[in-house]
Amino acid sequence: MERYTVSLEDELAGEFEQFIQKHGYKNRSEAVRDLIRDKLKQERLESEPDSQCVGCLSYVYNHHERDLARRLTERHHGHHDISLSTLHVHLDQDNCLESVILKGKTPEVQAFADEVISQPGVRHGRLFILPMYT
Ligand code: NI
Repeated sequence: MERYTVSLEDELAGEFEQFIQKHGYKNRSEAVRDLIRDKLKQERLESEPDSQCVGCLSYVYNHHERDLARRLTERHHGHHDISLSTLHVHLDQDNCLESVILKGKTPEVQAFADEVISQPGVRHGRLFILPMYT
């Protein structure tokens, strides 16, 4: 194992200590390792267009919004190869939450998520991507 010595400004060091406590890390090294792993994983996903990923796309929408439910359903059927499963929750009288499990090439999963999130009436859309292989 290699050892690194890192200097941090006081403010950044303070924020990092709060991060360590909040997430319950036993020591700084484990926290730094996780941050580096996470950043490198993201870099790898973005630099390899053929990389396979699984994703979870979540968004909220108002089901009274004109034509929106039909437009969303159409998008899902149009990409039935990557849109594997959808959980639908009726949040209140007006709003719905959908969480969708996606699987495929990273750029295709990202493009599908962008297409859904950019639909007028879709709010708070977020895509979480994990690599399928290390
Ligand atoms: Ni609903």
